[in-house]
Amino acid sequence: MGIIGVGAMGEALLRGLLAAGWDKAEVSLCVRRPERRDEIAASTGCVAALKPAEAVKGRDVIVVAVKPRDVPTVLEQLAGELSDDQIVLSLAAGVRTETYESGLGPLPVVRAMPNTPALVRKGVTGVAAGKHATEEHLALANAVLGAVGSVRVMDEALLDAVTAVSGTGPAYVFLLAEALTEAAMREGLPRDVAENFVHETIRGAGHLLTDTPKSPAQLRYEVTSPGGTTAAAMHVLEERGFRALVEDAVRAAALRATELGGSG
Ligand SMILES: NC(=O)c1ccc[n+]([C@@H]2O[C@H](COP(=O)([O-])OP(=O)(O)OC[C@H]3O[C@@H](n4cnc5c(N)ncnc54)[C@H](OP(=O)(O)O)[C@@H]3O)[C@@H](O)[C@H]2O)c1
Repeated sequence: MGIIGVGAMGEALLRGLLAAGWDKAEVSLCVRRPERRDEIAASTGCVAALKPAEAVKGRDVIVVAVKPRDVPTVLEQLAGELSDDQIVLSLAAGVRTETYESGLGPLPVVRAMPNTPALVRKGVTGVAAGKHATEEHLALANAVLGAVGSVRVMDEALLDAVTAVSGTGPAYVFLLAEALTEAAMREGLPRDVAENFVHETIRGAGHLLTDTPKSPAQLRYEVTSPGGTTAAAMHVLEERGFRALVEDAVRAAALRATELGGSG
């Protein structure tokens, strides 16, 4: 595999794959600044090239993990460098498979939207096939991304919604963690205790969501007794429009994904 752009997401994928047992020799990297190359070498022991063409030679899967605005430059840099037995796996929010197909020719392109928990192999990724990608190409993309979490194949039209929900999703949870920690400190808990209790609560609640068959509503009812403390807290969140706020945030992220891809 070759990874073009080793920032937050590229590095999360790289580290996740190494943690999953991939050998460093199975992955080539490309960054654009020598300082970043040195950072990556120091933190992972992997050597990165400064030119995409060098990182794609002899690789089956070419992962594009640059910001959407940098995709046109990467397409220019890769023009004529790929053959149709290589697949392009794009992680760029909003950028459509047809953008790659018109920039690179009739190559198999798989568009994916992962998230940063890939770093700890707990990612969740939506993938969609471009015009020239077959089941076999999707299976290859699944094999790469499946090493760092769960993968679901879907229609490309749904990927901007996935970007807004799970691609962006960790940030919603981190903001909640920050707010809850500040609130805990306001109630008198020392910072380290507040952080520990908030982080473990989010981890524990996450496990209840994924490891039991219960719905979020059912789990919430179970911690809400009539006239109790949770009921008092829920009343404030509902009255101040928590659900509508979340819906508006997700809508804003989905619209932004579409804008970034230059498709709307
Ligand atoms: N972060 C997330 O949670 C997340 C989740 C899902 C999908 N994504 C997608 O993943 C992509 C990367 O996001 P990110 O958050 O990882 O961004 P990022 O941290 O800015 O990483 C992008 C990296 O690509 C490098 N780069 C840019 N142009 C390049 C080129 N021509 N050749 C080689 N390297 C190049 C940048 O170099 P510099 O260091 O010089 O800027 C930077 O290190 C985006 O398209 C985003 O939509 C991100």
